[in-house]
Amino acid sequence: MQRRELVYSGKAKSVYTTDDPDLYIMHYRNDTSAFDGTKVQKLDEKGKVNNLFNAFVMGKLSEAGIASHFVRVLSDTDSLVRKLDMIPVECVVRNLAAGSLCKRYGIAEGTIINPPTFEFFLKDDALHDPMINDSHIISFGWATEQQIAAMKELTFKVNTVLKALFEEAGMLLVDYKLEFGMSGDSLLLGDEFSPDGCRIWDRETRKKMDKDRFRQDLGNVIEAYREVGERLGVDFSSIDA
Ligand code: TMP
Ligand code: ASP
Repeated sequence: MQRRELVYSGKAKSVYTTDDPDLYIMHYRNDTSAFDGTKVQKLDEKGKVNNLFNAFVMGKLSEAGIASHFVRVLSDTDSLVRKLDMIPVECVVRNLAAGSLCKRYGIAEGTIINPPTFEFFLKDDALHDPMINDSHIISFGWATEQQIAAMKELTFKVNTVLKALFEEAGMLLVDYKLEFGMSGDSLLLGDEFSPDGCRIWDRETRKKMDKDRFRQDLGNVIEAYREVGERLGVDFSSIDA
């Protein structure tokens, strides 16, 4: 399968058409971005690490009955995906307090959140991805009531699967962001799941192993992403070959 036209270039990935109108190629770049694109840097091998990491996670989710756009890995940096009509909202679940939640509500970092919270954000960098609620989503036509219900259900189902997976590997899934889209009448998980869009801490030391290392200038960003993947069982050997 060959890349044809560039259809979309985001902050970390580019999306290309293929000869099949239902399939796109997602190309993972080394570009790393935070704070709505105001902090950017190229990090060696990030594209490869995130592509292989995402493929592993999407495989685990598929085994658990959660359908995504992911079809298969094409190369270290590229994956074949089903074309989706994206819903412009981000779904965030939090198991432990961190990031914007701590600032917004004055909750100490690391506080256990029980039950886990669910938040919607509007995907719009120019507006700094504002938090939105179900009523905004329906009134402004970003998604329907049924899509909202399905996104919440699937995002929590992902939590059940991934929280256990990370815990078995000695890590805590602090929070994460998912995006969904429509393929015909089916709502599928889209975008990616990688340490760029979630927070992961070592269970014992609480060492940060995700994009907070980049946001907070903690160093060894990609080393940490790889360590997370290796602990889960991702095979990165093709990167070193
Ligand atoms: P936050 O603490 O900045 O609200 O982010 C919560 C989680 O969601 C964190 O793991 C980062 C992820 N996230 C993104 O990856 N992109 C986004 O645009 C937003 C709002 C959150
Ligand atoms: N929305 C933020 C961004 O623009 C999320 C982050 O800081 O990772 O990258």
